[in-house]
Amino acid sequence: MSDVRRWSLTENAPLQTLNTFHVAATAPRLLQVFDPHVLPEALAAVSGRPLLVLGSGSNVLIAADPDATVLVFGNEDIRILEHRADHALVRAGAGVNWHQLVMWSLTEGLSGLENLALIPGTVGAAPIQNIGAYGVQVDEFIHAVDAWDTAEQAFVRFEPAQCRFGYRDSLFKQRPDRYLITAVELRLPFLHSLRMEYAGIHEELETMGVELPGAADVANAVISIRRRKLPDPDVLGNAGSFFKNPILPGEQVEVLRRHFPQLPVFPAGDDSLRKVSAAWMIESCGWKGHREGDAGVAPSHALVLVNHGNATGAELLALARKVSASVREKFGVAIEPEPRLIGAQW
Ligand code: FAD
Ligand code: EPU
Repeated sequence: MSDVRRWSLTENAPLQTLNTFHVAATAPRLLQVFDPHVLPEALAAVSGRPLLVLGSGSNVLIAADPDATVLVFGNEDIRILEHRADHALVRAGAGVNWHQLVMWSLTEGLSGLENLALIPGTVGAAPIQNIGAYGVQVDEFIHAVDAWDTAEQAFVRFEPAQCRFGYRDSLFKQRPDRYLITAVELRLPFLHSLRMEYAGIHEELETMGVELPGAADVANAVISIRRRKLPDPDVLGNAGSFFKNPILPGEQVEVLRRHFPQLPVFPAGDDSLRKVSAAWMIESCGWKGHREGDAGVAPSHALVLVNHGNATGAELLALARKVSASVREKFGVAIEPEPRLIGAQW
């Protein structure tokens, strides 16, 4: 029998409120774990069956009912482990809402996470695709990732170098459901140089009338820009960017730029590679604001697929495939989904 205070098991659980596309689906079992210490006991109750870990479901597309026990963490504790002269070490449970952690860190006088304000989802999912926005990725601030290794049946701790963080990538993303992330530790500075180079931040701060910005001002600027550009999943179901920005060899990008001089190109962290804007290519194929039944492309951002009401995951995926095929045809570039596909392969 489950100890209801520390974990609980529900049969035939609806998933519509557990994914931000608000696609209707049912899981055979939902396992909620409020204290990771009881994971061995809670997992024993569903042993032998496949697992699917979900946070807030803001980076998944459920194309079919999962044949798996959905595991959700409900540990929502945040604490400062250590105060040093120039930084603090913060530990947050997997179930903590990411944006709440960002806002909490700012009220504690800690900085670093301000550019990552308003990213939906949980702390446990943040390392999965190494969340990033406005010129910052979370791996810069990660001190350690604690997890349960389902293969070894043991708690494990990862140093940042072991996590293989990349652009929208990590060891955890490459091996879905092997490591159940239970908590993340972050090293957050009291003072650091603010990152305001990303297009739009300076202008937003100017509009706000801020002359000498602090970390909280940058967070507010990022929040305003995001509210303007990205649809609110509570109003219009979506999973943020549906496609990653492709990273291509420099020579290929030069050729593309000869044909499409306005294509936005960004550094990719390696001199021989460039990141190109998937949103621009999709918009240039005419998809922005397009709608097929209840599946559509957001009118405010071409990279975001939206559910106008009752779209199924399969319908959203069919639209994504058409978008990707047209980009491949016009630009010769393969674009790949960012969210995890559940019940389908790309
Ligand atoms: P889920 O969607 O529930 O899960 C995502 C993946 O992580 C799945 O593979 C899941 O199995 C796995 N997972 C979740 N929790 C755990 C855990 N505890 N242990 C192991 N695996 C786990 N992302 C960005 O990087 N930058 C952005 O700017 C950004 N903007 C967004 C804007 C909107 C409007 C939306 C809807 C999404 C946006 N995203 C963005 C994507 C999303 O918010 C992030 O990927 C987020 O980290 C997902 O968190 P989640 O808890 O919802 O994870
Ligand atoms: N653009 C268009 N059409 C559009 C939207 C954008 O042509 O409809 C062009 C803009 O002109 C701009 C470029 O695309 O030059 C980049 O746009 P934006 O700044 O909105 O960034 P993005 O590349 O589309 C990425 C992330 C977002 C993150 C923002 C801000 C990916 C896949 N997406 O989007 O992350 O919030 O930068 O840093 O890297 C997510 O991952 O879910 C997500 C929302």
